Amino acid sequence: MSDIEKKYKMLEFPDLGDERGNLVVVEGSIQIPFDIKRIFYIYGSDDTVIRGQHANLKSEFVLINVAGTSKVKVDDGDETRVIELNQPRMGVYLPRMLWKEMYDFSADSVLLVLSNEHYDAHEYIRDYNEYLKIIGEKK
Ligand code: TYD
Repeated sequence: MSDIEKKYKMLEFPDLGDERGNLVVVEGSIQIPFDIKRIFYIYGSDDTVIRGQHANLKSEFVLINVAGTSKVKVDDGDETRVIELNQPRMGVYLPRMLWKEMYDFSADSVLLVLSNEHYDAHEYIRDYNEYLKIIGEKK
């Protein structure tokens, strides 16, 4: 396993559904590896846009495509990986200080994002060179 693969984590949530349909439950500090403080969701994006393009000093995230599909590119400054989110029972946990880009959204994509932190613009690093500088200083 490469170093970057130790940083993010694929999650698979159990389906508690029955003949009435599917039911997926995610609870803070149970299926989600942090207490959830913030929820947002992205829809109406398409295969021409790139979202994200930032790293966070404090926020951790779990991304779940509750409908449709999208891709997430993660980058730790050394390596990149592309994760395809294509099932409502699948999530990916992203720790702080991992550069991420979300793209290739299907027209029906609803990307649910959970975070351990409230929104604070000051903890977003939106300049890739600044990101490299910060993690370089930490190496
Ligand atoms: P942005 O970070 O560009 O979204 P994405 O990560 O999906 O590319 O956020 C778009 C706008 O929404 C920006 O003005 C900041 C604001 N915003 C909040 O106010 N709270 C939030 O939790 C998020 C994610 C964004």
